[in-house]
Amino acid sequence: MNKNSFLKIFTAYKGFDAYWIGHPLLNKIGLHIFRIKLADLFYTTRKMFFFNFKNKHQLKTLFKDGVLTVPNFISNETFSLISKEVQNRIKELEQQQPIQLGDIPGFQQPTPFKGGFDRYDGGTLNRFIDINKIDTPHLYDYIYNNPELKNICQKSSSYYYKPHKFKIYQMVHGDSETIHDLQKEIHKDTFHSTIKLWIILEDVKDEEGLKYSIGSHKINLKRLKWEYAKSITISQPNHSIKGGAFRLSKEELLDMGFSDTTSFAPKANTLVIADTRGFHCRGEAKTGAQRIAIYASLRPAPFSPLPY
Ligand SMILES: [Fe+2]
Repeated sequence: MNKNSFLKIFTAYKGFDAYWIGHPLLNKIGLHIFRIKLADLFYTTRKMFFFNFKNKHQLKTLFKDGVLTVPNFISNETFSLISKEVQNRIKELEQQQPIQLGDIPGFQQPTPFKGGFDRYDGGTLNRFIDINKIDTPHLYDYIYNNPELKNICQKSSSYYYKPHKFKIYQMVHGDSETIHDLQKEIHKDTFHSTIKLWIILEDVKDEEGLKYSIGSHKINLKRLKWEYAKSITISQPNHSIKGGAFRLSKEELLDMGFSDTTSFAPKANTLVIADTRGFHCRGEAKTGAQRIAIYASLRPAPFSPLPY
């Protein structure tokens, strides 16, 4: 669909560079707020399709706090097999495609290579590696056949399980003092609830993990006013930044009644799920520090009333 089509309003597209989404008058009369509220309504209806009492993890904490951690998520034996397999795969690919840190500020487009792709946030490298039956059979079997993981994904994201969304995620921190990493600024990803999920493969140090403002995925009145004001500012024709993943200061976060971000330092074999509409950022870490996880971004179409 063309970015400037009117129907773009009813998609997940969040950039205010799209003609109608970034229309100053429509935002003045509340288009951005309308999209938030309608997406919330449909998220609630879709979630009902996956409601059941049988799950071990009811995800109450996720819906209340916007973030949930589950230590020792995979059985020890399976985790050990997966972990070794992934480490080997990472080393193999590093020989074919050596690790390099970024040297251009801002988000960069993905650079594909055989087996995955690299994408830079400023100096930070995000390497996403494909999961398949030949190179990572234990992990493939786990992702495609584990009912617990499937249940959690469906219940949290409100759409049917899509195992192909999973990747091995190797992140290597750049030097954010010289090449700024925008993910280290407090921000939300989207106007609608959207789920990111990591199964951590190596212990994360305190300063390196996700930072999340607990409960900030919810839209209270102050948040709604802030969203409205942001949408007015960004939709002005002379405003140069048109991204829909709004950045904000710690003061703005506190003014909305949310708490400061909490650092998460999960141990290996912890499941971390977050609704990244909540305010969050990437923790600071030494240049070259690495985080390895199994990762999925579960982002359904926000205006679908039914799961798909
Ligand atoms: Fe983010």
